[in-house]
Amino acid sequence: MKTVLITGSSSGYGLETARYFHDRGWNVVATMRRPGPGLLPASDRMRLVALDVTNADSIARAVAEAGPIDVLVNNAGIGVVGAFEATSMQSVREVFETNTFGTMAMVQAVIPQMRARRAGTIVNVTSSVTLASMPLAAAYTGSKTAVEGFTGSLAHELGAFDIRVKLVEPGYCPTTRFAENGAERMNGLIPDTYADYARPIFEAFARPQAMTQPQDVAEAVWRAVHDGSDQFHFPAGADAVALAGPR
Ligand SMILES: NC(=O)c1ccc[n+]([C@@H]2O[C@H](COP(=O)([O-])OP(=O)(O)OC[C@H]3O[C@@H](n4cnc5c(N)ncnc54)[C@H](OP(=O)(O)O)[C@@H]3O)[C@@H](O)[C@H]2O)c1
Repeated sequence: MKTVLITGSSSGYGLETARYFHDRGWNVVATMRRPGPGLLPASDRMRLVALDVTNADSIARAVAEAGPIDVLVNNAGIGVVGAFEATSMQSVREVFETNTFGTMAMVQAVIPQMRARRAGTIVNVTSSVTLASMPLAAAYTGSKTAVEGFTGSLAHELGAFDIRVKLVEPGYCPTTRFAENGAERMNGLIPDTYADYARPIFEAFARPQAMTQPQDVAEAVWRAVHDGSDQFHFPAGADAVALAGPR
């Protein structure tokens, strides 16, 4: 039976991906900063493990506790939306620490075991902001675009050891905890000088033409893991698929 380790499984896309793999017979190591009961099905194939992707000791402990990992899904992520000039460098660093360096650190932690077995798949979850630039999201976009470039290069070198590396690019979903989790970071990031510019952008966010559901992301991760072709990009959700176009 195969084992998938998913980061950021406490809510949103990660929670749904954990359920999706479990329902299809996988062993799931559902990691989150504060594991709690009731989130995921109680099952001997579902293990909740504490993991903060910004903490090296926490990563080492979680990977050791997980045992052999067939698939790593780097899903944990945080956002910041607002005028870049008003965004503190502390917030920019926090976003990169989780989205970019957290992903890189997780990858380094699993490569040795996957290389030794000459098998494994790494799926990095980015965002549709890498498909089309979005205003007022420069720091977040930078953190996810860095992951895209990193993942593309990595796919070549790990391919030499039969480790598959894939990207899932979800679109926008207002029902995950993403906005709530970033709310404090985003306080005051639209100064008066940006208010007229920002208003129609936020109005458009409130009436998206197409959206992503958590299940779309879980399905895209599943396809990325099971697809036997060289496909590298897996846009997830109607909005992301439309933005990716015929790429
Ligand atoms: N929602 C969207 O519109 C959207 C669009 C495109 C891409 N994405 C991406 O999709 C992924 C999942 O987002 P979501 O929408 O499902 O948001 P979410 O509901 O806020 O889930 C994010 C997950 O990341 C975890 N996390 C945050 N910081 C962490 C850390 N330092 N270590 C470990 N886990 C951490 C959170 O856990 P805690 O319980 O510990 O906070 C939570 O489980 C993210 O990478 C996000 O950038 C989201």
